[in-house]
Amino acid sequence: MNILVSGGTGYIGSHTCVELIQAGHDVVIFDNLSNSKVDVLDKIEEITGKKPKFYQADMRNAQELAPIFQENKIDGVIHFAGLKAVGESVAMPWEYYNNNICGTLNLISEMKKAGVNKLVFSSSATVYGDPAFVPITEECPLGVTTNPYGETKKMLERILMDFQKANPDWHIMLLRYFNPIGAHESGLIGEEPNGIPNNLMPYIMQVAVGKLPMLRVFGDDYDTPDGTGVRDYIHVVDLALGHVAVMKKFEDQPGVYIYNLGTGIGYSVLDIVKAFEKANDIKIPYQVVERRPGDIATCYSDPSKAEKELGWKTKFDLEQMCVDSYRFARKMLNTAI
Ligand code: NAD
Ligand code: WQD
Repeated sequence: MNILVSGGTGYIGSHTCVELIQAGHDVVIFDNLSNSKVDVLDKIEEITGKKPKFYQADMRNAQELAPIFQENKIDGVIHFAGLKAVGESVAMPWEYYNNNICGTLNLISEMKKAGVNKLVFSSSATVYGDPAFVPITEECPLGVTTNPYGETKKMLERILMDFQKANPDWHIMLLRYFNPIGAHESGLIGEEPNGIPNNLMPYIMQVAVGKLPMLRVFGDDYDTPDGTGVRDYIHVVDLALGHVAVMKKFEDQPGVYIYNLGTGIGYSVLDIVKAFEKANDIKIPYQVVERRPGDIATCYSDPSKAEKELGWKTKFDLEQMCVDSYRFARKMLNTAI
């Protein structure tokens, strides 16, 4: 297929482009580069031997999207583009609603004009809020989100469901990602957050390479085995492969399909610290501090629907996630020097 990947130079997008190309698909990327760098395209070429066609375009501006559909015969769109920092979304709600919601509405309009009716949307486990039960199946009721970022995901899921009802020939896949970590084994692409990271693994990576002195563990009094928060960490390459698996689902009946993409295993913050230390033979100093507002105790998936219907199952374990994260962190540091 000829796939348009929005946000394709970003963290999950770049890994997905690699796996799509390696599976024989053609890829066109657009990104406004607000949270990624154009040299990711060279890295994708280094890994796959193919450089995707690229448009620097902002989805808030429909005029920047139109030429992409005019100049390429697009079969389907994987829509990663969006702002994703939880704390920033609390400080800048207008920017988040405008970027994520208006941008997606523009993208749908341009798809409609071009007669493209296949869409994969990057949703998030955040739509379950504090989940009603774990492991979380797709039937778990959506919860109360605690920040504008999460709300954009919930709203966009609703918008896309309503839209599909009114446009029954559309194929819409809502993929709810759990916690992606790790990097491509080449060490060429990975997650490069701006400033001090908010998420656990990017923070540990910076402690590991000496850029930050120690990890702060946000609370050890949760109702979990060791008191620290439990999450479903998934290797970003497994997540990328989930998107490749979803491509086949486009051959089925039109409709809205929802899948959790996770491993089904919950690890605590201290499990992650210990696994990282063991896998990389390095010490990660940490200190337990107050809980972080808005955090929940436990969140992990039941990924069996994706396994049954997509034939997709994760293959990388936590050790591999830690090894690949550290490799990328060291490469990033060397490039920065
Ligand atoms: P990322 O920031 O690395 O990638 C997103 C890309 O979108 C960036 O390259 C950015 O420049 C681009 N972008 C943002 N606004 C744009 C706009 N208006 N026009 C064009 N491009 C724009 O983030 P990621 O981690 O790769 O996440 C990809 C998607 O997956 C996002 O929608 C995110 O909300 C979702 N998601 C991420 C996680 C996670 O933990 N990383 C979890 C669940 C869901
Ligand atoms: C994981 C665990 C923290 C940092 C967020 C978004 C969610 C999704 C993924 C996109 C928690 C603890 C963290 C640190 C810590 N993104 N922690 N010290 O909160 O599960 O999810 O990213 O959709 O929407 O909310 O991920 O990596 O921030 O935290 O102790 O410095 O690590 O308290 O228990 P989270 P995270």
